[in-house]
Amino acid sequence: MKIIRAKDYKDMSRKAANIISAQVIMKPNCVLGLATGGTPVGTYKQLIDWYNKGDLDFSEVTTVNLDEYRGLPRENPQSYWYFMHDNLFNHVNIDHSRINLPDGTNLDAAAECARYDEVIRSVGGIDLQLLGIGHDGHIGFNEPGSAFELGTHCVDLTQDTIEANKRFFESIDDVPRQAYTMGIKTIMQARKVLLVASGKDKASIVKKAFFGPVTPEVPASILQMHPDFILVGDEEALSEI
Ligand code: F6R
Repeated sequence: MKIIRAKDYKDMSRKAANIISAQVIMKPNCVLGLATGGTPVGTYKQLIDWYNKGDLDFSEVTTVNLDEYRGLPRENPQSYWYFMHDNLFNHVNIDHSRINLPDGTNLDAAAECARYDEVIRSVGGIDLQLLGIGHDGHIGFNEPGSAFELGTHCVDLTQDTIEANKRFFESIDDVPRQAYTMGIKTIMQARKVLLVASGKDKASIVKKAFFGPVTPEVPASILQMHPDFILVGDEEALSEI
């Protein structure tokens, strides 16, 4: 595990974007595993900025996103498909046929999860997986207690995650109750994993996940065992370690 200390959110975003651009420069046809949520938004902004300056080329990059709400169509502004287009894909020269997310509208969970695992396999696996971390240690939608050996699967969201995500919806009743997510096994098979953490409210889970025991009760703790795991955190998020 490598820990990179950043001054603040902006610096964290720049450092994370640097690692992603190094990956794209070293392997232009790489497979990037991407995340939604608030934390990576600054990283995506920085990548867009470098793309606009002519320093980055996404034309051969393939992406696979971590997760998607079950039941939300792409055009719903709260879908992760929409989020990714709004925050990154619509602003860079990515080939839209190389963008992959679980399909929230396929309600046949077993079929959709199998399809998504096959997509990840067929593109040759993930070169770099970007992650955020939930207050309870979740990564993707792998909530506490998730089995480490799972591939893509359908999950019931915990009350904690529903609460955390309601800020993006009109009311808590609009937050979907289920999602498709890559499993911990899928994430651990990525050749490089980059987790971004920002803010005081992440400090205690960062300490627990990366300096506490490896346990399914804290899903992110398994990343301690990953051979190429980088944590980029700002001062506040790293204040307890
Ligand atoms: C996002 C995802 C989630 C978030 C996590 C942290 O695709 O799967 O695990 O990374 O909930 O979210 P933020 O960054 O909003 O604190």
